[in-house]
Amino acid sequence: MACKLEIEPTGDIVEVQEGQTLLDAALRQGVYLPHACNHGLCGTCKVEVLEGEVDLGDASYFALMESEREDGYCLACTATVVDDVVIEADIDVDVDARNIPIKDIWGTVIKREMLTPRILGLWIELDEELDFQAGQYINYHVPGFDEPRAFSLANQPSTGKIIELNIGLIPDGEATPWIHQNVKVGDRRKITGPFGRFFVKRSANKPMIFFAGGSGLSSPKSMILDELENGCTLPITLFHGARNEEELYYADMFRDLEKKYDNFKYIPVLSNNENPAWSGEVGFTNDVAKKLYNNQFAGNKAYLCGPPMMSEACITALMQGRLFEKEIHTEKFFSKA
Ligand code: FES
Repeated sequence: MACKLEIEPTGDIVEVQEGQTLLDAALRQGVYLPHACNHGLCGTCKVEVLEGEVDLGDASYFALMESEREDGYCLACTATVVDDVVIEADIDVDVDARNIPIKDIWGTVIKREMLTPRILGLWIELDEELDFQAGQYINYHVPGFDEPRAFSLANQPSTGKIIELNIGLIPDGEATPWIHQNVKVGDRRKITGPFGRFFVKRSANKPMIFFAGGSGLSSPKSMILDELENGCTLPITLFHGARNEEELYYADMFRDLEKKYDNFKYIPVLSNNENPAWSGEVGFTNDVAKKLYNNQFAGNKAYLCGPPMMSEACITALMQGRLFEKEIHTEKFFSKA
């Protein structure tokens, strides 16, 4: 039997089916609740139950402590309803969010290609188009694994039913080695999405600086292609960090875009270059950005997507260069490898 979930302070009301989590019900009905891991581990989705009763589900004691349970808190990603419930959530209003309802869509793998020795490109033709904001991610259901894995969409929304995923190999992970070895053209796969609030804050109307490292290029690629296709005339700069030229991918595409669009600048940065013929930047993206921006980042919006060490170094550089934290956006989901 379905129950009613009321969310304060927004007053949104959604229907929750038996056995469905609060988070799943809200997101499927286009109502945003904060989340990151979706599996009771991080605590991002913690909410207070003001009225009614919930079953806490499989919430870890690390993410939801004993005292919080006693005080009436639950994790929206694991809790299910026992009766009608009113919760209080800490929701940041984001005027740029379209709050697109998530849904399940099946699709067929139509192409696979190694983009670098460690990053697999997968192209999936979905049975129906996925509406999403460039920069968002989907959950990819992997056969034999209970939990789906989260991957950013590397394509821009205009590609219709065809989505692209860039999947970095984590050698000691479980699902990414499996995907690299086993997924083949013709396979049928289910995805769920779109998730996340990492997208261009168009309402800010400010020049954009993107920092990408590893397979973290997916979201910036999607966002930059979407902005350029939609006639954005604001300056857009992409710093793409890689160890060497072998690990640098889509470089030719970005160089072509740089020639085509006056407002787009592409700056690949190699941290471990051994090719004397390389004439581009070397070192770390944060240092190169400081040099090229003369250590002055005020007035921009920054979007970061890559390994934690890279992101931390870039955030420090941006803040030292007078960019407030609220102007710096990072992709916040995490998923098992
Ligand atoms: Fe719910 Fe991480 S604990 S999203």
